[in-house]
Amino acid sequence: MSLIEVRDLVVNFHRRRAAKPNAVDGVSFAVRPDETLAVVGESGSGKTTVARCVVGLQAQQGGAVLFDGAPVGPVAKRSPATRRAIQMVFQDPAASLNPRMTVRSIIGETWRTHPSAAPAGRSWDAAIDELLADVGLDAGVATRRPTALSGGQCQRVSIARALALRPRLLVCDEAVSALDVSVQSQILRLLAGLRADRGLAILFITHDLGVVRQIADRVAVMHQGRLVETATADDLFERPGHPYTRKLLDAALDLEGA
Ligand SMILES: Nc1ncnc2c1ncn2[C@@H]1O[C@H](COP(=O)(O)OP(=O)(O)O)[C@@H](O)[C@H]1O
Ligand SMILES: [Mg+2]
Repeated sequence: MSLIEVRDLVVNFHRRRAAKPNAVDGVSFAVRPDETLAVVGESGSGKTTVARCVVGLQAQQGGAVLFDGAPVGPVAKRSPATRRAIQMVFQDPAASLNPRMTVRSIIGETWRTHPSAAPAGRSWDAAIDELLADVGLDAGVATRRPTALSGGQCQRVSIARALALRPRLLVCDEAVSALDVSVQSQILRLLAGLRADRGLAILFITHDLGVVRQIADRVAVMHQGRLVETATADDLFERPGHPYTRKLLDAALDLEGA
């Protein structure tokens, strides 16, 4: 069974909806419990809106998001267990971490919000050190603030914070787009390893086909609010089915050749 399913999702940001196109227009896909699904498309195609619906930060006008087969609504109405299970990593690492807090308190805060996820029978500090090690950071990072860290380190902290709640789905919205290419690859390898070790599913939103190639098992291609093609990553790169997918691939090849 799928872990998360998006069914006929419709989002329209306009007051007079009939007059304007839907930002998300009847999108359906599913993510299995152990796979990485990439949603790719150019800027404005509706990817972030879909991601925000999945985590419950954006209301939809039609369709549903199902978790473990049951519809889930806005985040405020979700059970604590569902909220824990679906965690998000954002594009801008610095902006998504409170600059006034230490890394230790950033991670500890998640356990105050979700006591059921807090480490039992051992100190929080030891559990935080272990989480930091899991994302490739020294224990010394715990006492530092995000402003003292690089973009890549901040993104590792964001991932550690998400993992602290032992999620089943990680939603990554352009999570490496702000980073240098070499740092991107490190973070993508980290995510792939975490997925395998922890049996995570990942919904990876990106405009970058190079990133898709590195991380995705399957790919859903969005264009102007609609899904135009869903395929395994191998098939998509070898035999793109939809003209828009071919256009994206050609554009990416031009960039590589430039
Ligand atoms: N909060 C909002 N209010 C009004 N329009 C929005 C809002 N968020 C997104 N949009 C519009 O919805 C469309 C899809 O945006 P988005 O989901 O951010 O695309 P992507 O992440 O693929 O770049 C765009 O036309 C964007 O301008
Ligand atoms: Mg976006």
